[in-house]
Amino acid sequence: MVKESMGFSLEEVNWPKDVERMTDLEKKHSPRIVCPDTVKPGEMFEVKIITGKLLKHPNESGHFIMWTELYAGDRFLGRTQFAPVTTEPETCFIVSLNKSAELIAYSMCNLHGLWKNTVHIEVK
Ligand SMILES: [Fe+2]
Repeated sequence: MVKESMGFSLEEVNWPKDVERMTDLEKKHSPRIVCPDTVKPGEMFEVKIITGKLLKHPNESGHFIMWTELYAGDRFLGRTQFAPVTTEPETCFIVSLNKSAELIAYSMCNLHGLWKNTVHIEVK
């Protein structure tokens, strides 16, 4: 069931259409990736992912962020599962890369589907 008219889809990955004018739904669900712009090859660094950074997402048993995953391009880096009420949808991965990549974060809301955000990280 596609709910494009409601601002999200349960069949496809969602992301902000215009980052300068995000809707409240986009602000609540878009995973914010916080990491350095540039790292050295093989250097360990932190990638923090916060869902609902711009506008707090509900955190109750009927509506919550279920998990967050991190990829470097197609490569899976990690997943954090969240319990409603008792954990906030924030996580941190310690990562090393050997070449520049798009970091991709996905967050899954139990009511509003899958949401994505990306950042480019330069390795040199
Ligand atoms: Fe939601």
